[in-house]
Amino acid sequence: MSEPRWIKVAPVKELSPGKRKQIKILARAIAVFNIDGQLRAFDGLCRHMKAPLVQGTLKDNILTCYWHGWQFDIDSGECLTEKWAALRFLDIKIEDDWVMVNISPLYTNFESDAISGIEAS
Ligand code: FES
Repeated sequence: MSEPRWIKVAPVKELSPGKRKQIKILARAIAVFNIDGQLRAFDGLCRHMKAPLVQGTLKDNILTCYWHGWQFDIDSGECLTEKWAALRFLDIKIEDDWVMVNISPLYTNFESDAISGIEAS
């Protein structure tokens, strides 16, 4: 397992319940949702054709991709459309009033220096 690589995503107050945010790093995106006070972070690109999931519709904790309608259970990560396409969750922590996400599972092919120091604005 690779070393955790925590990045700042947003101040806690910016991600209040009902809010969502996407950050892009290199060719990838990370989506962070606050669902009734529970933060979830995951690979932000739909595994069908890479639409940004942050723009999907969320109803009853089912996230629907706005391009072709694939659906994801945002609690379990299960893709209800294609079993192999589950959401890839990322660890989250709060530190110094910032929401931080461990991005190392998505960036295993890069040297640490390539993405060090990246912070969302
Ligand atoms: S890109 Fe998400 S359903 Fe096609």
